Amino acid sequence: MVKACHSTNSQVVINTRLVIAGLLVPWVTTSVIWSVGATCHLDSRYVFSDWMRDHMKLAGDGPMFPEQGLVYDYRLHDGGFTDPTPDNEPRIPVWMYWMDGLEEYDIFPDTKYSDIEVPTIDTVRSSFILGKLLELDHPVLCVGNTGTCKTVTVVSKLSRGLNKNFLCEFMAFSARTSANQTQDLIDSKLDRRRKGVFGPPLLKKLVFFIDDLNMPALEIYGAQPPIELIRQWMDFKGELTIQVAYSNV
Ligand SMILES: Nc1ncnc2c1ncn2[C@@H]1O[C@H](COP(=O)(O)OP(=O)(O)OP(=O)(O)O)[C@@H](O)[C@H]1O
Ligand SMILES: [Mg+2]
Repeated sequence: MVKACHSTNSQVVINTRLVIAGLLVPWVTTSVIWSVGATCHLDSRYVFSDWMRDHMKLAGDGPMFPEQGLVYDYRLHDGGFTDPTPDNEPRIPVWMYWMDGLEEYDIFPDTKYSDIEVPTIDTVRSSFILGKLLELDHPVLCVGNTGTCKTVTVVSKLSRGLNKNFLCEFMAFSARTSANQTQDLIDSKLDRRRKGVFGPPLLKKLVFFIDDLNMPALEIYGAQPPIELIRQWMDFKGELTIQVAYSNV
């Protein structure tokens, strides 16, 4: 009996190793697309996509992307490693169009206009990538043309799409937002752990969503003090307060 269990466990280990070996190239490909490739603007995305496809063909690294669209239009289905398969059996990983497998979105007559959020390829993939980055404690900057659903996507992901370890606070910058107001607002959401150390309640992660980050007016030297405060926070994991004491966050 013990022997049977042992051999079953070894088989599982071997299967898992095989699955992981088959996923290494697609994982690296995904990372390259959503790090190096994510810095491209719309026109250069075509160039990057062709370059990526050519290199994969040359190296014979599968799975290959479907011919249509750009490499950005597909996400990795990892064949059962984390993504479910219909029969729960491992499968060869494939590139899946972002919109495939989504549930149909219904809009009812009594749905408020402001609550309507039509899934598009941009909202679906931005939401997915936002979630992954937050899980790994990376700050996220969303840029894009006006009216492209950035605010709606982020608010929806933060309010409904994260697990309950996350606490989310929302604020919006305007031309009149000052560094003092920004600091007061952030401080008011943090608990004091001990002298000079602040943070969210224990075991929780706190996400601040700052809408319209670019809005604060330039001061006399051309800087935007509220943004400088946030930059300092990102770079040094803390802030120099107006009382000239350093706070770790
Ligand atoms: N996919 C969508 N589904 C539903 N509504 C949308 C969608 N895309 C945009 N809208 C609507 O367009 C309007 C603008 O969206 P939103 O405020 O999220 O844009 P934004 O990218 O944040 O723009 P800005 O850069 O000006 O802040 C909102 O009223 C939103 O409801
Ligand atoms: Mg917005």
